[in-house]
Amino acid sequence: MAPPSVEARNLTKSFGSVHALSDVSVNFRPGRLHALLGENGAGKSTLVKCLMGYYQADSGEVVVNGSPHQMRSPQISQALHMGMVYQHFTAVDRMTVAENLVLGRADLPFVIDWSSEINSLRSFMAGMPFQIDPQRRVSSLAAGEKQKLEIIKQLYLGRTFIVLDEPTSVLTPAEADQVLSEVRRLVDEGSLTVAMITHKFREVTNFAQDVTVMRAGKVVASTEVNSDSEARLTKLMFGENSTFMTLAKRSDPPIGSPNALMMTNIHALGDRGDEAVAGATLSVKPHEVLGIAGVSGNGQKQLVEVFAGQRELAEGEITVDSEVYRRTRKEMQKKGIFLLTEEPLQNVCVRSMSVADNLAFRVFDLTPFARFGLINRKMLEKLANELIAKYRVKTPSADAPIGNLSGGNVQRVVLARELSHNVQVLVLQNPCFGLDSHSAADIRSKIIDVRNSGAAVLLFSEDLDEVLELSDRIAVMSEGKIVYEVDAKNADRYEIGRHMAHSTH
Ligand SMILES: Nc1ncnc2c1ncn2[C@@H]1O[C@H](COP(=O)(O)OP(=O)(O)OP(=O)(O)O)[C@@H](O)[C@H]1O
Ligand SMILES: [Mg+2]
Repeated sequence: MAPPSVEARNLTKSFGSVHALSDVSVNFRPGRLHALLGENGAGKSTLVKCLMGYYQADSGEVVVNGSPHQMRSPQISQALHMGMVYQHFTAVDRMTVAENLVLGRADLPFVIDWSSEINSLRSFMAGMPFQIDPQRRVSSLAAGEKQKLEIIKQLYLGRTFIVLDEPTSVLTPAEADQVLSEVRRLVDEGSLTVAMITHKFREVTNFAQDVTVMRAGKVVASTEVNSDSEARLTKLMFGENSTFMTLAKRSDPPIGSPNALMMTNIHALGDRGDEAVAGATLSVKPHEVLGIAGVSGNGQKQLVEVFAGQRELAEGEITVDSEVYRRTRKEMQKKGIFLLTEEPLQNVCVRSMSVADNLAFRVFDLTPFARFGLINRKMLEKLANELIAKYRVKTPSADAPIGNLSGGNVQRVVLARELSHNVQVLVLQNPCFGLDSHSAADIRSKIIDVRNSGAAVLLFSEDLDEVLELSDRIAVMSEGKIVYEVDAKNADRYEIGRHMAHSTH
């Protein structure tokens, strides 16, 4: 089937006082890979949700192969073979990969013959650019694997126009290149039209053929890629006079200070009863960033969950300030331990609660915000407004539900909450997931500030560039263990990559 041409014509969409889209027109030409660029909150996700009928535009239309449509529901776009991989994962955690794929089909038979479904799924999977065992439970997949599953699902469902909302945020550069070159191959074969939201210029220049830049709900440029330099795209995204935060100079750590955080021989089971963390040992000193590089799915997620008290510690010991750390909220408060895990909207936010309440999670029951069991709403609101300003969170107000914020702005809220205290130990996992380059620079500079003020920072990141930029020391996690460690001064990208690739996943 030939891929469709899809055109957004004069789309407008407001949420209360927020003009998310103002008269937006974009032409996605058939059989092309079209990138959408724009800072956090520019309106990219809103645009593609309107294309798919997930949101209804206030005015304008979507023209598919020349015929105008009102996308009143996702069913309408699906019938036109249009599909979307959302910024937030949609696969059902407690089901297997196969169940998620087969049950997503519209032509589902009344009685499902699972063994024949799984056989046909395996042969479909064999022809795919990347493989995932159909029998695995989704909850056991790391972010990168879930992302691949979401793309595979769209192809399995026979979609010929696919929207990818930041498809590579948690993939390693090698995985991202692999995924995108396979997507590009499908496009070049003439079987697919793709709209891809991304924050990475490299992905635009290497893989996209057309690019549209959005700012504050409007299209500021739409061109073929070859004529566009990175510098020009940056100016279009952020305006002429935008400046980037630069990292503060690293203060020298005091010599001979004891470890602030130690993890010794940590073992933990994964969701499938497999040994996800298999004897990991590491230590971090005050004024130090230990960056853990690694391909997703090598136990990073489970190790962070152990630390957060969300997963059982099967064996081993964690100490903070040389005292055994039992992973309770009380200890976290007392010792100044803060945490940022993956997928913050799912894991550490309450979608329906306001930005202010989400910002207050850490402190609402502590003085001065609460006395004699009474919560001081005025003070919490003041705190919220200060943090919103300091972290430049784009939200209509402190009272807006956090679930309405753009992906990058949710991330800012969580970071604001976690970084604005007296931090002694900070554990981060992919802290710049989904952030535009400005916001990422902001956040990275805040991480270095926290380090300079004396915190021990443990940074898990699948973005090797980020690890190299922020770390004082670098380790590689593979198959549940720390397999390599090097001082940042002597770090060699190639050597680190070699240890990362040692994984069998
Ligand atoms: N359901 C909603 N309710 C209220 N406001 C919304 C909703 N969805 C989006 N918005 C607002 O619309 C604006 C555009 O958001 P959108 O999610 O489209 O941005 P984005 O370009 O995808 O950003 P990011 O790069 O951070 O994902 C933001 O100000 C956001 O807060
Ligand atoms: Mg978005």
